[in-house]
Amino acid sequence: MFFGIPPMNKIYARECIHAIGGYTPGEQLTGRRIVKLNTNENPYPPSPKVGEALHALDWETLRLYPNPTGEALRKKAAEVFGVAANRILCGNGSDDLLTIALRTFVGEGEAYAYPEPSYSLYPVLADLQGAIRRPFQLNDSFELPDDVLSQAADAKLLMLARPNAPTGNATPKARLHELCKQFPGVVWIDEAYADFADDNCLNFVDEFPNVVVSRTFSKSYALAGLRLGLAFAQEHLIEEMLKLKDSYNTDRIAQALGEAALGDQDWLHDTCAKVRATRAWTTDELLRRGWQVLPSQANFLLAKPAHRPADELFAKLRERGLLVRYFALPRVDQFLRITIGTDDEMRELLNALAELDR
Ligand SMILES: Cc1ncc(COP(=O)(O)O)c(C=O)c1O
Repeated sequence: MFFGIPPMNKIYARECIHAIGGYTPGEQLTGRRIVKLNTNENPYPPSPKVGEALHALDWETLRLYPNPTGEALRKKAAEVFGVAANRILCGNGSDDLLTIALRTFVGEGEAYAYPEPSYSLYPVLADLQGAIRRPFQLNDSFELPDDVLSQAADAKLLMLARPNAPTGNATPKARLHELCKQFPGVVWIDEAYADFADDNCLNFVDEFPNVVVSRTFSKSYALAGLRLGLAFAQEHLIEEMLKLKDSYNTDRIAQALGEAALGDQDWLHDTCAKVRATRAWTTDELLRRGWQVLPSQANFLLAKPAHRPADELFAKLRERGLLVRYFALPRVDQFLRITIGTDDEMRELLNALAELDR
């Protein structure tokens, strides 16, 4: 037993935790007027039905624990998505579900595959779990390479965002279908941005015993501050993941407001249509100015400026209170990732860029 003063510089954390830097979220600046186009939030407020549900919530019930699995929310999600309630897992945002994925399917020292560039949390999750990273490079058009299966052959879990972030493109559904059929481990399709896309892969869950599809309320439902996500999979996978989640991983407020949000599909469709329309004209305008813009199925664009370096534009835009995302990472360091805002916000951005990028 040790009763003295702990020695200086002693490392108490697990080695794999101490060795990594952790995930860096996009900036959340406050205190001055900001046009916030850096973390793919929705520029519109959530459905008014969410506001009504918040007001209707009896605050005194907060003394009680929430339902551990969010039964009412699961039932509502079952109705909206046409998937049985026991095939749905609620999470504290989809990041929570991704953490559950690693802990359920990838043991320490086992391999976990994901593309690069993609969501920068994916490699961090591998490190936190002590898993072996198996990244594979997207091809020159930022699409899946032909040999994914051989590169990921020993992986227990293959993580794919569709649409992908930060590139915005979506792997053709037929290609992903083939991959799910052939991959021996679990394929996790992260559909955080699927509501902005032309199609989605939710029906793969019925067909494949090894597929999980996750969704979030943070983007299309405009509820990033609520922290709520859903995973869909066959019962045997959901049952395993249920063992791993925190006992009460979604709270009473999130469950009630999530249910209300799902109940307003008209709002969802109208809002996503607005974002898609803004995405289309912003893309056209940037292309007209000589920018390279990747075809996006999401609520953001990955775009390479015509004249000035991306990091310089990022810094100058920031000085003007226009916040976009810049990644000093291989293959994307010449691009800016621009969240689709309101039409007015995009006009403000484009006006600033007309002065800065020449
Ligand atoms: C591809 C992808 N997956 C998941 C998430 C996390 O979403 P959530 O807010 O549900 O944790 C993000 C957030 O930016 C994302 O880009």
